[in-house]
Amino acid sequence: MVPRQAVPSPPDKALTSTETRDVEEIEVALLLEAIVRRYGFDFREYAPASLKRRLWRRAHAEGLETISALQSRVLHDPACMERLLVDLSINVTTMFRDPSFYTAFRAKVVPLLKTYPFSRIWIAGCSTGEEVYSLAIVLEEAGLLERTRIYATDINGAVLERARLGIFSLEKMREYTQNYLLAGGQRAFSEYYLANYDGAVFDRRLVEHAVFAQHNLVSDHCFNEFHAIVCRNVMIYFDRSLQRRVFQLFHDSLVRFGVLGLGHKETIRNSGFENEYEELDGAEKLWRKVA
Ligand SMILES: C[S@@+](CC[C@H](N)C(=O)[O-])C[C@H]1O[C@@H](n2cnc3c(N)ncnc32)[C@H](O)[C@@H]1O
Repeated sequence: MVPRQAVPSPPDKALTSTETRDVEEIEVALLLEAIVRRYGFDFREYAPASLKRRLWRRAHAEGLETISALQSRVLHDPACMERLLVDLSINVTTMFRDPSFYTAFRAKVVPLLKTYPFSRIWIAGCSTGEEVYSLAIVLEEAGLLERTRIYATDINGAVLERARLGIFSLEKMREYTQNYLLAGGQRAFSEYYLANYDGAVFDRRLVEHAVFAQHNLVSDHCFNEFHAIVCRNVMIYFDRSLQRRVFQLFHDSLVRFGVLGLGHKETIRNSGFENEYEELDGAEKLWRKVA
C-alpha cells in the first residue's frame, strides 16, 4: 500500500482586508469573463464601484455568500442571468426626463431635422421606452413624426418588450404632464394616452414607424446612418476606454452634421472626439458632428 500523502491544511486564519479585496477582485473578473463566454454580455469595462455593488446585491438576493457562488449559479441557471442583467442594466427612466433637454431639442435640433426630407434617430439605451414616446411627441408637434424613423435599442430584451407596449403607470401621469409642459409641450398631455385598468396606454401612432431592437453598445456594431443619436444616462456606467469605443461607434453612425445628445452628467469633452463636434447646446449636452 502506498501511504496516503497528507494534504496540507490551509492556514487557519482569517484573510486580511487587503487579501479579501484581492480575492473579490479575482472573483469579479472571473464572473464577468464567465458571463461574456456563456451569454455574450460584456460588463468588463463598466465602472467598477457601482458594478461591484450590484453584483453583491444580486448575490445576497440569491442567498449567496460569495461572488464565486454567484458565478456558479449564473453559469448553470439562465434565469439567474436574466435577474442579474436587470440589476446591472439600471433601467431608471422617466418621460421628458430633464425637460430642458427637450426644450433645447425643439429649439436647436428640430430645425436641423427639418432640412432633411426623411431622417433617422437612434435612441441608444432606451430602457422601458419613456424617452422614445417623449421624443416621438416632440417630433409629432414639430410635424416631423411622419418623416422620421426612430430606432430604439437597449441591451436588455425585457425592457424593450415594455417599451414596445408603451403602457406606463397612471400614477406617473401627473409628474409626466408637468415635465411635458416644462419641456415646451403644446397640447393637453392627456391627448397622447388612454387611461385604462392596465395604466396609461400611449397612442400607437407615436411608434408606428419606430423599430425596437436589442443592441449592445459594447459588442455590437454600427447598423445604420443617423441624423441624430440620443444616448442619455447610459455611458455614466462605462469606464473611460469603453466610453471612447462607444463615442467611436456614434461617430461612425452619424451623418456629417448629425446631432449627438447625451445625459446631463455625460460629456464629449476629453473623450478624444471633442474636435469632431461643435457645441449646439453645452448645458443640454447637444453636439453636432462637423468632421
Ligand atoms: C439609466 S437607463 C437610461 C434610460 C434613458 N436613456 C434615460 O435617460 O432615461 C440606462 C439604460 O442603458 C441600458 N444599457 C446598459 N448597458 C448597455 C449596453 N451595453 N448596450 C445598450 N444598452 C445598455 C440599460 O439596459 C438601461 O436601460
